[in-house]
Amino acid sequence: MKNVLVTGANGQLARCIQDLAPNIEGVNFIFATKQILDISNKQLVFDYFSNKSFDYCINTAAYTNVEQAEKDAENAFNINAEGAKNIAEACSANNTTLIHISTDYVFDGEKESPYTETDATNPINVYGASKLKGEMYVQTGCMQHYIIRTSWLYSQYGHNFLNTILKHAKAGNPLTITTEQTGTPTNANDLAALTVEIIKNDPKKYGVYHFSNAGKATWYDFAKEILIQHSHFDTSNLAKTEHYPTFAKRPKYSILSTSKLQNTFKSPLTNWKESLKNNLN
Ligand SMILES: NC(=O)c1ccc[n+]([C@@H]2O[C@H](COP(=O)([O-])OP(=O)(O)OC[C@H]3O[C@@H](n4cnc5c(N)ncnc54)[C@H](OP(=O)(O)O)[C@@H]3O)[C@@H](O)[C@H]2O)c1
Repeated sequence: MKNVLVTGANGQLARCIQDLAPNIEGVNFIFATKQILDISNKQLVFDYFSNKSFDYCINTAAYTNVEQAEKDAENAFNINAEGAKNIAEACSANNTTLIHISTDYVFDGEKESPYTETDATNPINVYGASKLKGEMYVQTGCMQHYIIRTSWLYSQYGHNFLNTILKHAKAGNPLTITTEQTGTPTNANDLAALTVEIIKNDPKKYGVYHFSNAGKATWYDFAKEILIQHSHFDTSNLAKTEHYPTFAKRPKYSILSTSKLQNTFKSPLTNWKESLKNNLN
C-alpha cells in the first residue's frame, strides 16, 4: 500500500483528487487541509512527516489569488516559495517523492509558440515570481520531484473562471470578457488523474513537465464555450474587450507544450472543449 499526502485539501485540485481516491487500489490518500498542515510552518511540516511515512506528496497547497498577490507579496512568497521549500525538504528527509504543481505564469508570454520545459522563465507578476521561486526550492531541496506546470485550471469546485461565468449567466448579468490572453483552459479533474497515474506507474523520470488540455483559447472563447455548452444561456449577454484592467499583469500567450509529458507518461490529452463538456455533464 502506498501512502500519499495531499496538501491544500480544500482546494479545487485536491478535491478532484479526493473524488478519484476511493477507486484507486493500493493507494492510501491522506488529505491535509491548511488548518491541519500549514505548509509555511517548517516545524509543523517536519513534525507532520515524522508521524507518518509517505511514499508521495502531492503539493497542491498554494496562494492562488493572482490579483491579491500584487498587494500581498510577502504572504504569496511565504506560501508559494517558503512553503514549497518546507515540503521539498521534508520529502527529501523522509524519502518521499514530491509531485509539486506550478503554473504557466512563470513565463512572460512574449513567445508565439508553445512554451517547452527548457524555455527561459520570466514571471511578470508576483504570483508567477513566487511560484517560480517555489520551483527552484523544489529542484534544490528534493531530488525525487515532479514539477507539473499547468494553466487556467477550472473544475466544479471553488472559485474559478467556469464557476464565475456560470454564476453571472444564471443571474442574467452582462459579461465583458477579454481577448487579450491566449492559453489553454485545463480541467482540474484531468490533472488529478495525471497525478494518480504518476503514482500508479512512476517512471522515476524526475523533473519539470507541462500539462494542460489540448488546444487554445482566449478567456472570451472560454466564456463563450461555457455558455454554448449550457445551451439555455444566452450568448447575446456576452461581449468581448481587448483590454480588461487588472492589478496583475498576465502573460499574453501561455500555451504549454505537452510533448515531454505525453512521451513520458503516454497519457493522451483531451481537447479543452471536450473536457469542458465532460465537466459540465
Ligand atoms: N487555479 C489556476 O488557474 C491555476 C493555474 C495554474 C497553476 N495552478 C496551480 O495549481 C495548484 C492547485 O491550484 P488550485 O486551483 O487547486 O488552488 P486553490 O483552489 O486555491 O487551492 C489551494 C489550496 O491551498 C490552500 N492553502 C493556502 N495556503 C496554504 C498553506 N499555507 N498551507 C496549506 N494550504 C494552504 C488554500 O486554502 P485557502 O483557500 O483556505 O487559503 C486552498 O485550499 C496550485 O499550485 C496553483 O498554483 C493553478
